[in-house]
Amino acid sequence: MEKKVIRVGSIGIGSISRGVHLPGIAKSPDLQLVAVCDINPDALKYAQETYGIDEAHCFTDYHDLINCPDVDAIDISTPNDVHFPMAMAAVEAGKPFAVEKPMTMNAREADILQKAVAEKNIPNMVCFSYRFKAAARYARDLVQQGALGKIYHVDMQYYQAWGLPWCHTPQVWRFVKARTGTGALGDLGSHALDLVRFVTGQEYTKLVGHTGNFISQREKLDGSGMGVSDVDDFSNYMAELSDGGAATFRITRFGTGRGNYQTMEVYGSEGALEYRLDHFENNPTGEDEIYICISKPHADSHVFAKLPIPDKYKTDQMQSFADIVNGKGDGLAATVLDGDVNMHAVDAVVDSAEKGVWVKL
Ligand SMILES: NC(=O)c1ccc[n+]([C@@H]2O[C@H](COP(=O)([O-])OP(=O)(O)OC[C@H]3O[C@@H](n4cnc5c(N)ncnc54)[C@H](O)[C@@H]3O)[C@@H](O)[C@H]2O)c1
Repeated sequence: MEKKVIRVGSIGIGSISRGVHLPGIAKSPDLQLVAVCDINPDALKYAQETYGIDEAHCFTDYHDLINCPDVDAIDISTPNDVHFPMAMAAVEAGKPFAVEKPMTMNAREADILQKAVAEKNIPNMVCFSYRFKAAARYARDLVQQGALGKIYHVDMQYYQAWGLPWCHTPQVWRFVKARTGTGALGDLGSHALDLVRFVTGQEYTKLVGHTGNFISQREKLDGSGMGVSDVDDFSNYMAELSDGGAATFRITRFGTGRGNYQTMEVYGSEGALEYRLDHFENNPTGEDEIYICISKPHADSHVFAKLPIPDKYKTDQMQSFADIVNGKGDGLAATVLDGDVNMHAVDAVVDSAEKGVWVKL
């Protein structure tokens, strides 16, 4: 069968688009960037100059890009508040789409989107990017092979630092609840929830959360004074896993000295593993790593050995999108169904933190 090159229209040409989506599209032999949309003219200029997109395919209204007959598939990298209407418009147009995380503003929107894609059978992907880290895929495989036995504990930490006072980060959309939904929780915590679910293959049965805000006023972007930051700066939570294991999560934008620091420790009856990202000790690039402690002699000696990661686990997010659209996905990328499960967990943390109680899922 002849391989189909998918003509992609990208909406939201900001930092993740420029850093990951557009380079990923350019790299894939199965994708071609043909149209872009952004409300900021500078972003459109960037796409024109960097990727040679002609004026006629630069849009400011996402409906025009989605309905453009030259566009086969939609790539959405805008702030969170517009993921849902854009994804729904793609479904309406019958076009496959990839959407950034958190998938929607809340579980109510997520349920509607899930129902819509299922009814119309639209190929889709949610950009939980850490599923594409080779160490995470290797960890998942080891858990699935039973190398760790029964999972008792998972501890996931995801720390960034750009919320700290000395960073003077202004009131960008990520601090405005009406645009972002939640703060550190939806931004980083949604990744953590997805990654633990991905690696363990288990669901969350109940959650309890503690969230908080350290800086409630930030400088407005137009320099006209201070504006409100009404989102969580940190979010810690605990979850029960479907197989009875206990998971803990520590999530913050106030982790001094950290960049995009992730650690997931998984402890089972037969062994333990540690997934790391952005750890710079003996790892100058901070690339993802996996350490494992298998069998009693290693456990008795407290030895965690670093495993070389086989090439078969190395993959790319945008190529995965191409594979999904071409009907040959590996089933490991997150879909709207995963995004829906994720938004229910995010909402449960919010609910729990507000009420001070465990919330069942
Ligand atoms: N998967 C990951 O690891 C990861 C990493 C970073 C960001 N993200 C997600 O990606 C999304 C974008 O984040 P970012 O850091 O690139 O933000 P950003 O602010 O850098 O870029 C967003 C872009 O969207 C444009 N935009 C806003 N509203 C629009 C609209 N209605 N129509 C068209 N364009 C519009 C903005 O002008 C801007 O260019 C967020 O949902 C974020 O959570 C995911």
